[in-house]
Amino acid sequence: MTNSIAIDGPAGAGKSTIAKLLAKELSYIYVDTGAMYRAMAIYFNENKVDPDDEAAVSKACENVNIDIEYKDGVQQVILNGTNVTHLLREEATGKMASKTSKYRAVRTKLVDLQRELARKNAVIMDGRDIGSVVLKDAFLKIFLTASSDARAKRRYDELIAKGEVADFEVIKKDIEDRDYQDSHREISPLKQAEDAVLVDSSNMTIEEVVAHIKNLIDQRKLF
Ligand code: DC
Repeated sequence: MTNSIAIDGPAGAGKSTIAKLLAKELSYIYVDTGAMYRAMAIYFNENKVDPDDEAAVSKACENVNIDIEYKDGVQQVILNGTNVTHLLREEATGKMASKTSKYRAVRTKLVDLQRELARKNAVIMDGRDIGSVVLKDAFLKIFLTASSDARAKRRYDELIAKGEVADFEVIKKDIEDRDYQDSHREISPLKQAEDAVLVDSSNMTIEEVVAHIKNLIDQRKLF
């Protein structure tokens, strides 16, 4: 666990893009923990579990088994035996994940799985509570953030490039709502760990962020 790297930060800060590139360069395994909360959310949506009913969510949790596998280096999420990787990014899944990730039963189950992966592999793991809770003794902790304007602009450009309709203000409001929900929940809220290095990517390219983090890794190796 001590050679692991933790990257936390709000939605849309570029965590997964950066983590994937770093994992490749360092020959680490990239663990996307948001995908696990999303897989749980798929189960809750499929089974019409009310996200406002903690007892119901906790009970449903007992029927969920999530496995992580790697196919050509890409993380695959298996929900009760079915590969659901292609469904993870759907809007309804993200919304359900944001609402249900605040519950203890959900978090305990997934944090156990995350720690097990880190015990067995050299991992670069991204999420909201990796440096503060899951891998407290990580070798390097990064808190990657960017202004909500910068994050909304990136998302907007992404959608336009795909030929989809997009409204900048709606995207920005969605991002700010999710930030609020993620950072105001009682258990494991999104927050910078005391010993995490803050990286604000608002005015940085992906390559610049990767180079900066690699520098931080090299500096630590010297001591
Ligand atoms: O990073 P993401 O958008 O895929 O995450 C989906 C939701 O899961 C998000 O609302 C926050 C939550 N999450 C969490 O609570 N803890 C994590 N370690 C990762 C994600």
